[in-house]
Amino acid sequence: MARSRGGSEYVCQACAAAFPRWEGQCRSCGAWNSLVETLVAPASARRGGASRPQPEAVARPLGSLGIDRVARRRTGLDEVDRPLGGGFVPGSLLLLAGEPGIGKSTLVLQIAGQLAGAGSIGPSSPTVLYASAEESAAQLGLRAERLGLVGGPADERLRILAGTDVTAIVRRAAAESPSLLIVDSIQTVAVDGLDGPPGSVGQVREAALQLGTFAREDGVPVLLVGHVTKDGTLAGPRTLEHLVDAVLVLEGDRYGSLRLLRALKNRHGSTEEVGVMEMTAAGLAEVRDPAAAFLGSGQREAPGVAVASVLEGSRPLLVEVQVLVAPASGLGPPRRTVAGLDGNRLALLIAVLARRAGVDVSARDVYASLAGGLTAGEPALDLALALAIVASTRDQALPADLLICGEVSLLGEVRPVRGLERRLREAARLGFRRALVPADADLGGSTPGGLRTLRVGTVRHAIEVAFEADDGTSG
Ligand code: TYD
Ligand code: MG
Repeated sequence: MARSRGGSEYVCQACAAAFPRWEGQCRSCGAWNSLVETLVAPASARRGGASRPQPEAVARPLGSLGIDRVARRRTGLDEVDRPLGGGFVPGSLLLLAGEPGIGKSTLVLQIAGQLAGAGSIGPSSPTVLYASAEESAAQLGLRAERLGLVGGPADERLRILAGTDVTAIVRRAAAESPSLLIVDSIQTVAVDGLDGPPGSVGQVREAALQLGTFAREDGVPVLLVGHVTKDGTLAGPRTLEHLVDAVLVLEGDRYGSLRLLRALKNRHGSTEEVGVMEMTAAGLAEVRDPAAAFLGSGQREAPGVAVASVLEGSRPLLVEVQVLVAPASGLGPPRRTVAGLDGNRLALLIAVLARRAGVDVSARDVYASLAGGLTAGEPALDLALALAIVASTRDQALPADLLICGEVSLLGEVRPVRGLERRLREAARLGFRRALVPADADLGGSTPGGLRTLRVGTVRHAIEVAFEADDGTSG
């Protein structure tokens, strides 16, 4: 049904009917907002052209494959290599997503600088191509200076291409064959032949397809920068996540300095590991002691604070759960506000506390947050959140040297959490002396790091022990 002269058409994502113009509703199947602008000749068919003979499809026996040990390109920044799974895999397409202003451009420029600075200087030394569609070359130059990249090997090897045309970017990259191609951002580049504005579903998808084809055919890793909207969804089509080999997310509190780099999807590595960095005046710095980074400045004697441990991949991070229970205004339902925590878990714990532990805050406002801009939905935080609610309600502080680990069930039982031993060892290292743990936690009789473990089977019991633990007489 190609009717617009070799340009684009609007294809319904529900029934695949094609139309020459955008319409709100598909006239074929009746679906709303389902038309997406698409090139009539798809990118895969155009690059290389019809002249290139199609290879025969070959199926190979498993035993003949060998284990494909790809030579990854390490960035040399541990906190970046870790979530990548050890470095960039040649030929892969990656997406770095994050809210505007979180530090994506800063991070990719630092990665570019690192890669460009690595290796020997010579005619075949690695270059990095940074296609900037958002900032001018002059702006990038200023930033590079701030990051200390000017006056080093990056001067020569880091090539900046300011422009928005995907075809031009791919052509330049094919000529340079860089060790990494960065496209900042996928929402601001445009594909020739599509009429939709940059950032529209059709544009983003086609641009990603063409850059992915380039990555595969030329064996160059391509890193796309993508924006996420306020509610945390990726701007543009969801299909973008399916088109790429890995999705890395840079997150944190924009007004705080800590940043987490997390892999949401990774075809070439685990999605468990996170990198922890800190935004400084000279760019993102690796955090030396991530376990302690989110602990805050030690207002731990305040009523309403409980320290828990979040397991990010193999690393335990200690976090402060902060709760404020306040009288409700009486107008409308009481407020439940969370930052970095799961609102449903909060609602559940408030109900469990009322029914199983005799602490009823259901008619009061409850605000809960994780310090340091961390976001975690781990059930292992339950018990700490519950005890922080109790502490704020009673206006009585929890002991400052107490770590709290445990999931809470609907029946008010405290259930085991994974990786408890590792969490406890890390807490002991950071000066915690006691830990509230699930009664049937399996620690093999050991007390990691000399931490005293207080075993509790129910939330009610946990409340008794935690507030008694203050005078150091219980055990
Ligand atoms: P930026 O990388 O432009 O964010 P994004 O590309 O995700 O939109 O950086 C955003 C913020 O980082 C900006 O407000 C300034 C701050 N920043 C620093 O604090 N230190 C630095 O060295 C740099 C380059 C930026
Ligand atoms: Mg940017």
